[in-house]
Parts: sequence; structure tokens; C-alpha cells
Amino acid sequence: MKFTGYFPIVKKEKITDSVYRFAFHSPDISSEAEPGQFVQIRTSDDYFPLWPRPFSIYDVDTKKGEFSIIFKIFGCGTSRMAKFAEGRKIHIFGPLGNGFDPIKGDRPVVMAGGGVGIPPLYFLAARSIKRGYPAEKITFISGAKTKEDYFDDGCLGDLGLNLIICTDDGSRGIKGTVVDLLENELGEKKTVYACGPSGMLERIDTLLSEKSIEGELSLEALMPCGFGICSGCAIKTMPDDNRGPTDDNRDFHLKRVCVDGPVFKAGEVIWR
Ligand SMILES: Cc1cc2nc3c(=O)[nH]c(=O)nc-3n(C[C@H](O)[C@H](O)[C@H](O)COP(=O)(O)OP(=O)(O)OC[C@H]3O[C@@H](n4cnc5c(N)ncnc54)[C@H](O)[C@@H]3O)c2cc1C
Ligand code: FES
Repeated sequence: MKFTGYFPIVKKEKITDSVYRFAFHSPDISSEAEPGQFVQIRTSDDYFPLWPRPFSIYDVDTKKGEFSIIFKIFGCGTSRMAKFAEGRKIHIFGPLGNGFDPIKGDRPVVMAGGGVGIPPLYFLAARSIKRGYPAEKITFISGAKTKEDYFDDGCLGDLGLNLIICTDDGSRGIKGTVVDLLENELGEKKTVYACGPSGMLERIDTLLSEKSIEGELSLEALMPCGFGICSGCAIKTMPDDNRGPTDDNRDFHLKRVCVDGPVFKAGEVIWR
């Protein structure tokens, strides 16, 4: 079920100069949210910016009825949001999207999160561990361009998983990209969960297909509506048996990232 309304910011934390964590009070959204799902947040009460902005659900506290997001200041909407004070009520719609498949069995997994891709993977790791999946079987590669862009507020380190931190410029953790480090971790067969910018996901998708490894990729897209009516987030995917009426006779199948995703199976997306 999806919920909409004005929900208060109950906690605001500044993680770096450009990265913030907000916790909101909404017992409905927090109890319904699954890892990989997102919320659409209106960053203004007037007409600019008109469209809400999508943010992954980072964490939930169902006892307190709260959920949180971590976001980076990117453009006009996130700049406005960063100035909001605790107590302010914001228009939120969610939880939206399909989310990740729960981890099955006790097969080792690798999670690869780049920048804004870290929050949904944190939620997946935290929930899986809470439900009995062994923390030591999760390798979490968490990367960003610089330490200033890095998203973790310290919680990842508390989960007891195998955490590998990297930045492109080496200002935090190992110097290198998430994809470089992921290649070293794919020696034995593991399932991969990845979220981050398109270029990173495309490279990961290629790696997984070369090595015949299963994976799920959570995509970013511009999302004007967030619930399937505008097609602003449409992407090309491999044709399958459930072709829609608009893409018959084409060698691709259009899917909307907001409702058919944001999580897609490795090998499903046509990147160019
Ligand atoms: C499913 C999903 C989950 C997300 N989760 C998070 C999260 O947890 N934390 C977080 O910080 N961000 C997340 N994002 C990205 C976030 O939605 C954007 O950073 C935000 O919409 C930017 O809004 P803005 O008004 O600040 O920037 P704008 O002023 O709208 O954008 C500035 C420029 O960036 C471009 N742009 C905007 N958004 C994107 C995008 N998603 N991809 C590529 N180019 C873009 C615009 O076209 C414009 O040119 C997520 C995006 C998606 C689709
Ligand atoms: S954002 Fe409108 S259909 Fe996906």
C-alpha cells in the first residue's frame, strides 16, 4: 500500500557539508517499506520545483514509526531540502517501486553502492541481518567520488559485515572505483546487489554477464511523477513474453523505472 501526506522531520543530521540524513515520522510508510523502495518528496510548497524528487528509504524504526533518508545536495530541490528545520512537515508519497528480492538461503552476497546508491543497500543489508542472514557473508563495497560525497553516517560499520570503503581520489578508504573493487570480489559465485550511477551499473552488468553471475541493479532516473503515469522514467529493456501494447514488434521492451523498477535483474536493461 502507498501513503501520501505531510510528515514531520523528526531528526535532521548533517553528515558532511553536502550530505544530510532526515528521519520522518510516518508509522504507515515505515511499516510498509521494503529495501530498494523509495519515496517521492516535494521540496517546495509552491510551484518551483513543481515535481517531487525520489529518495531511497535508508532505514526504518517501526517501533517509533519513523523512516529515514540520506541525501546529497545536487540541484535546486535538494538545496532547499537541506535548509528545512526539524519539525517541518513535508509532502511525501510512498513507499514506491518494487525493491530488491529478499536474500535467499545463505549464499554469500556482494553489495556494491556508489554515492546515492548506498542508502537502499544499507537497508537491504540491515534487514537481512535482522532476519537471520549471517553478516559475515555480506561484502559491502561502499564508494563515492570524494570523502565529501561519501554517504555512510557510520551505521554500515556497525552491521558486522565485511565493509570495503573506496573513493575515486583516495580521500577516504581505498583509492579506486566500486567497479574496480567489485572485480576482486567475484572470484567465487556470489549474488551481487548494486545501486549507483548508470555508468557504474552498466559496467557491473557487463562484468556479471561475462562471469555468469546473478545480480540485481537498482537504477537512477529522472522521475517526474514516480507512480507510472508520465513515462518520464522509461528505459529500454530486453524483450520478454509480457510485451506491452506500445512496444510490439520492437526489439526492446519499454519499462518505467518508477513502477517496474527501480530494481532490475542483471542482463535485463539495454543501456544504449
Ligand atoms: C529511485 C531513486 C532513488 C534515489 N535515492 C537517492 C538517495 O537516497 N539519496 C540521494 O541523495 N539521491 C537519491 N536519488 C537522486 C535524487 O533523486 C536526485 O539527486 C534529486 O532528484 C536531485 O534533485 P534536485 O532538485 O536537487 O536537482 P535538479 O535541480 O533536479 O537537478 C540538477 C541537474 O541534475 C539532473 N538530475 C537530477 N536528478 C538526476 C538523476 N537522478 N540522475 C541524473 N541526473 C539527474 C537534472 O536533469 C539537472 O540537470 C535517487 C533517485 C532515484 C531515481
Ligand atoms: S516517473 Fe512518471 S512514469 Fe515513472
